[in-house]
Amino acid sequence: MTSHRIFLLTPEQVMARRAALVDLLIAVVEAGASVNFVQPMTRAKAEAWWAEAFAAHARGARLIFVAETDERLDGTVHLVPAPQENQRHRADLAKMLVHPRAQRQGLGAALMRAAEEEACRIDRTLLTLDTETGSAGERLYARLGWTKIGEIPGYAMRADGSTTDPASFFYKVLAPEG
Ligand SMILES: CC(C)(COP(=O)(O)OP(=O)(O)OC[C@H]1O[C@@H](n2cnc3c(N)ncnc32)[C@H](O)[C@@H]1OP(=O)(O)O)[C@@H](O)C(=O)NCCC(=O)NCCS
Repeated sequence: MTSHRIFLLTPEQVMARRAALVDLLIAVVEAGASVNFVQPMTRAKAEAWWAEAFAAHARGARLIFVAETDERLDGTVHLVPAPQENQRHRADLAKMLVHPRAQRQGLGAALMRAAEEEACRIDRTLLTLDTETGSAGERLYARLGWTKIGEIPGYAMRADGSTTDPASFFYKVLAPEG
């Protein structure tokens, strides 16, 4: 078990964690994770991405969870409710990031559980995501009961830009709270 607190951020709490969230994204990409960026991961790229994420968070279009101790922020995951009016029951899971210094302690699983609980609470009972095939993320989602529907070859450039890798697509149906 870790001593991290896992919780959903308010817009005020997000702004106070801006630099730590930028640092987290940079650290994860520099460590080689395939999360929509190619190295070198500049501060400018990370700040621009978070600026859009914070704007979406402020209008309720992205829920941001973090894992932190009193000293540092070590992880995040985002719940993105589908905006389509015929998919009011669906949300995407995105930006599942655990800092390399804090991986393999159960934080990823704890963040996913928090996001799934909140999704259930707000009646988003169908969750979807994609991840790099063969990654730690793919193992995590399978372990937590997500269903893999398949792979798309050559989907995304590897973080070091050397080649493209396939992506795996997953979904999970949550039992509504009773
Ligand atoms: C994918 C990711 C979020 C997983 O986060 P994490 O905090 O390491 O996840 P967990 O600790 O819950 O599980 C990871 C592994 O540690 C193991 N583990 C968990 N607690 C452990 C403990 N106390 N001691 C030893 N191992 C442990 C798990 O069994 C799991 O093993 P496996 O990968 O061999 O199946 C993290 O690796 C990451 O941020 N990667 C880079 C970004 C990324 O790829 N994100 C996914 C994009 S879709």
